[in-house]
Amino acid sequence: MKIINVVGARPNFMKVAPIVDEMKRRTADFTPLVVHTGQHYDAQMSDAFFRDLGLPAPDVYLGVGSGSHAVQTAAVMQSFEPVVLEHNPDWVLVVGDVNSTVACALVCSKLGIKVAHVEAGLRSRDRTMPEEINRILTDQIADLLLTPSQDADENLRREGIPDSRIRFVGNVMIDSLLGQLQRAESSKVREELGLSGSDYAVLTLHRPSNVDDRDAFARILSALEEISQRLPIIFPVHPRTRSRIAEFGFAERVQRAKGLRLVDPLGYLDFLRLYSGARLVLTDSGGIQEETTVLGIPCLTLRENTERPITIEMGTNQIVGTDTKKIVQAASASLDTQSNPQPPRIPPLWDGHTAGRICDALQEKGVGGRL
Ligand code: UD1
Repeated sequence: MKIINVVGARPNFMKVAPIVDEMKRRTADFTPLVVHTGQHYDAQMSDAFFRDLGLPAPDVYLGVGSGSHAVQTAAVMQSFEPVVLEHNPDWVLVVGDVNSTVACALVCSKLGIKVAHVEAGLRSRDRTMPEEINRILTDQIADLLLTPSQDADENLRREGIPDSRIRFVGNVMIDSLLGQLQRAESSKVREELGLSGSDYAVLTLHRPSNVDDRDAFARILSALEEISQRLPIIFPVHPRTRSRIAEFGFAERVQRAKGLRLVDPLGYLDFLRLYSGARLVLTDSGGIQEETTVLGIPCLTLRENTERPITIEMGTNQIVGTDTKKIVQAASASLDTQSNPQPPRIPPLWDGHTAGRICDALQEKGVGGRL
């Protein structure tokens, strides 16, 4: 089967890498192609991940770049359609919830090409999040919905999707995590940042609801100022966030908070090495809630909701929102009670073998018309 695997933005690369790897191992059954939409294009947001994850260079690069949601989504659709027509794949595989995901799925649904969606069924129930719209729409039009957890199956059933289109395969991002953990030990990022031991926290922040909203960003910043007096916070800064710091006039505040250390975005191995040694992670990312769960690292999520509730039920994740006091209290409570860590509880099928189950599911569904 000829499969086009789509990547677009940073959180896609670690999901697609193990799948392409598995397809390349099953040469008799799969001919995988990689199409990069170019939604993310900076060396540190894209190239570093290809290198770290051993993802083959894209067969096709669409180079769409940044833009408003409409501009970016439309640009992906326009440039992806001729690629699909030229290669006429048996399946197009899309992952996650970024604009490239929904754009490519929509192109295929109109062309009658089958779509498999990896990480299907997650719902934050917050329709102001662009990703929530991307998730709902992609799941409605995809032919095969490959879910990371059983709550996702339930969400899909509730939306009227028949069981025949749903397959619980586990979390493919954890294939990358477990596969790269040992290699990440050779990263010197902790030494380069002068960190000894694990007495530090790691922060990521890029959601529009947090960084495009001046008040929300200011509340979070106040919390970071307090927490960083207790332990250093290493903050690899997303380009969107870097722009807002300048635009909102926060640069001086950030500079004054000595314990808050801004660094450029990190590649996969350096970032893994960094957070896997931390005492605490603060984030508004989806994937990091899952990665910290598997590694048993306390995670405070700076959002009002999560599409990944299993990381709270089974994992180390806690939703703390964007209220200054709440964030500071949760960080203090976490740091005060860490003398007796519990072994991490791993959600079902987050076992490093999800790519194999995804390929099995595709093989079972096989070639032929739409399902
Ligand atoms: C996108 C995804 C989000 C994901 C995030 C991970 C959507 C709707 N959002 O958000 O789900 O969590 O990626 O990073 O698809 N920029 C650069 N260099 C780059 C890429 C972006 O400088 O390589 C800058 C541009 O100024 C751009 C801004 O960052 O306008 C935001 O990028 P964009 O892809 O629009 O959204 P993200 O916030 O990255």
